Amino acid sequence: MNSAKNFAGQFALVTGAATGIGEASARELARRGARVGVMDINAEGAARVASAIAAEGGDAMPCVVDLMSWEATQHAVAAAHVSAGRLDVVVHSAGGFPQYVNLIDCPVDAWDAVVNSNLRSMFYLLKAAAPLMMAAKYGRFVTLSSMAARSGVNPNPPHYTAAKGGILALTRQAALDLGKHGITVNAVAPANVLTPRTLNIRSPERIVHIEKTTPLGRLAKPEEIAAAVVFLASPEASYITGVTLDANGGATMV
Ligand SMILES: NC(=O)c1ccc[n+]([C@@H]2O[C@H](COP(=O)([O-])OP(=O)(O)OC[C@H]3O[C@@H](n4cnc5c(N)ncnc54)[C@H](O)[C@@H]3O)[C@@H](O)[C@H]2O)c1
Repeated sequence: MNSAKNFAGQFALVTGAATGIGEASARELARRGARVGVMDINAEGAARVASAIAAEGGDAMPCVVDLMSWEATQHAVAAAHVSAGRLDVVVHSAGGFPQYVNLIDCPVDAWDAVVNSNLRSMFYLLKAAAPLMMAAKYGRFVTLSSMAARSGVNPNPPHYTAAKGGILALTRQAALDLGKHGITVNAVAPANVLTPRTLNIRSPERIVHIEKTTPLGRLAKPEEIAAAVVFLASPEASYITGVTLDANGGATMV
């Protein structure tokens, strides 16, 4: 990846940064010069990623929080802002779903857990971070949606598809509300990414099918999704807001 230090002097909070796409995004932001808040409910994972960033010469701090709680989210964002003295970037990668379930069998409490951890958490983060960014007249908010919200080619559970669709709508609404304050809000929609969670929720046969039906012939590496995230989070993406960047190997072309 490009090694330009185009985030020098900036502070970036990355949720879900203890693993997967969030970790890859946090590490690339740090390589580009940002100080990074490694935000996750997984304290051990957040500490591991912050140490790995420090070992590469970067600057990171673990921020342990459960994004299901408004009070905890508000407190964690405010504490990170005080500690870093600024907040330039929020990347919201926490989310996902634990296992495939079809519409009829989807338990009612699973609906709340998946919608809230993916979508309501985005609202909490916007509500906590946007006033801080508004005061600075600058901000970049990048959130992870999914191809699940763009196309029906892959079987996905209903709560996840709905949450990721809600993320796209909230991305546009927030972009509309916050643009005049110098804040951009954008989404990245990956298809299937080679993270441990993907390998848990997709059978080996399904992975082969995905490879065969993806124009680029393979699943993404987390670093390839991080590249899209980091671009939208960068100062250079200054005239892009309210968009969905499909990073899916051509699996759907919207
Ligand atoms: N991996 C894929 O194939 C894929 C495809 C499309 C979209 N996405 C989306 O990209 C994002 C990252 O995916 P991933 O596969 O890297 O995820 P992952 O499951 O590997 O990591 C998610 C992280 O979020 C954290 N987290 C979950 N709930 C939390 C909470 N309440 N508070 C704080 N942290 C919490 C977890 O501890 C974990 O570290 C997700 O939003 C996912 O839906 C992933």
